[in-house]
Amino acid sequence: MKRAAPLFLAATAAGALVGLTLPVHAAADGAAVYGRCAACHTKTGAGVPGVFPPLGEDFRVMAASDAGRRYLALVVTRGISGPIKVGGKPYAGVMPAQATLDDASVAAVLNHVGTEIAKTGPAFKPFAEAEVAALRAGGARLSAQDVGKLHASAGGQ
Ligand code: HEC
Repeated sequence: MKRAAPLFLAATAAGALVGLTLPVHAAADGAAVYGRCAACHTKTGAGVPGVFPPLGEDFRVMAASDAGRRYLALVVTRGISGPIKVGGKPYAGVMPAQATLDDASVAAVLNHVGTEIAKTGPAFKPFAEAEVAALRAGGARLSAQDVGKLHASAGGQ
């Protein structure tokens, strides 16, 4: 019994480590994928006025409604081409579809944006892989221009 104690402690420590590192890993995925978004939307998500929209107020509002969540998933999987207005500024660019991202990566990056970039707070409801899969399938025929037309009804301002 005397020898079992250190083993037990080691196992507990390992368990605690796994428990601590798992969520960090999950968050790191979204952060890693966000690297490709940051090339345009910038590291902080502030964007470039008139060129690359900020990922902030619009994102927070949209993530709270079904139409908005559909729009956000389709922006990433189908791309988007405006004209749209974000934060009162017009945008008429093109975001290429990030079509190589699988459903889990799309969910992870949207969750990273929701929590770390747009800082939605406790109201944020995380995207699930299955939700992204359904939204992607439902919008499979939409062009980037079609997605642009969804902006206003998705809660964009
Ligand atoms: C090559 C540049 C580029 C990359 C990479 C890019 N975007 Fe975009 N994104 C844009 C542009 C440009 C627009 C606005 C399109 C327009 O002007 O109509 C946009 C629009 C958006 C919108 C809509 C904003 C709103 O308020 O309606 C979201 C959300 C978004 N991008 C998220 C992402 C995410 C998440 C990624 C990474 C997975 C990403 N973007 C990668 C250029 C980019």
